[in-house]
Amino acid sequence: MDLQLAGKRALVTGSSSGLGKAIAERLAAEGVGVVVHGRDVARTEKVAAEIRGAGGRAAVAIGDLSTDEGAELVVGAALADAPIDILVNNAGAYAQLSWAEATPETWRATYEGNVISGVRMIQRLVPQMRRRGWGRVITIGGGLATQPMASHPQYNATLAARHNLAVSLARELKDTGVTSNVVAPGAILVDHVKELLTGIAPARGWGETWEEIERGAVRDTIPNDTGRFGRPEEIAAAVAYLSSPLADYVSGANLRVDGGTIRNVA
Ligand SMILES: NC(=O)c1ccc[n+]([C@@H]2O[C@H](COP(=O)([O-])OP(=O)(O)OC[C@H]3O[C@@H](n4cnc5c(N)ncnc54)[C@H](OP(=O)(O)O)[C@@H]3O)[C@@H](O)[C@H]2O)c1
Repeated sequence: MDLQLAGKRALVTGSSSGLGKAIAERLAAEGVGVVVHGRDVARTEKVAAEIRGAGGRAAVAIGDLSTDEGAELVVGAALADAPIDILVNNAGAYAQLSWAEATPETWRATYEGNVISGVRMIQRLVPQMRRRGWGRVITIGGGLATQPMASHPQYNATLAARHNLAVSLARELKDTGVTSNVVAPGAILVDHVKELLTGIAPARGWGETWEEIERGAVRDTIPNDTGRFGRPEEIAAAVAYLSSPLADYVSGANLRVDGGTIRNVA
């Protein structure tokens, strides 16, 4: 299927690793010129170089989206060559804290890094999409937005805020040609998740090989219809679809890519 994305430009925040990296690679493979973003210069440049090496187009933007100054740097770099058609608000951080451990300051910093970070990008990049009459804002949310766990409450709440603001934005963008939608991953096997699971596997009795560990971890922590964790490429495929003109009629939607982890009918 031709996603009709060739020639578009996208900024994928937090694409120096994990889901963002897979999203940038996938969009580039569809002919999109991507702006790879991160705070870590070496890792961000490495991702961009790999995309170029595979025949894609990639520029780099560096900056901490927890601050207005960082956001200005990122937008300045992203718009240096041409407009941005597709904004993927993916950057974010997660810390495994309990209610007792997450201080008010942690809550504040997590909201700044996971929610206001994306708002900064929306406010700076959506006006130029509106002027051109076409654009995409895709927010990476998550199942914890609607079915939070007892742990890391400061993180769960930021996912809920992301889902909420993305739908509000869709209403705001009525009749503009610009859409706002959410992709909600389940538990996705990025490097740090695999390391964490491998580290706790002996204590949980999940086995020795990765296949045994994954089966045990899914059974005990995220039972779902597929019996496995998701892969970053599966999130990237959903983002590519929503980025496409084929998704012009999709507005304010939540596309769950979670193997059926979340059980809501809607
Ligand atoms: N993995 C999952 O299972 C899962 C599930 C649901 C939702 N998500 C969401 O998906 C997104 C990506 O997660 P991931 O697992 O791929 O994490 P990751 O591998 O740790 O990547 C996070 C990315 O975000 C960037 N970043 C974090 N805070 C930033 C800030 N303040 N300013 C600028 N960049 C920042 C990082 O940049 P540097 O490293 O260069 O600093 C990195 O590129 C997150 O928003 C997360 O909440 C993940």
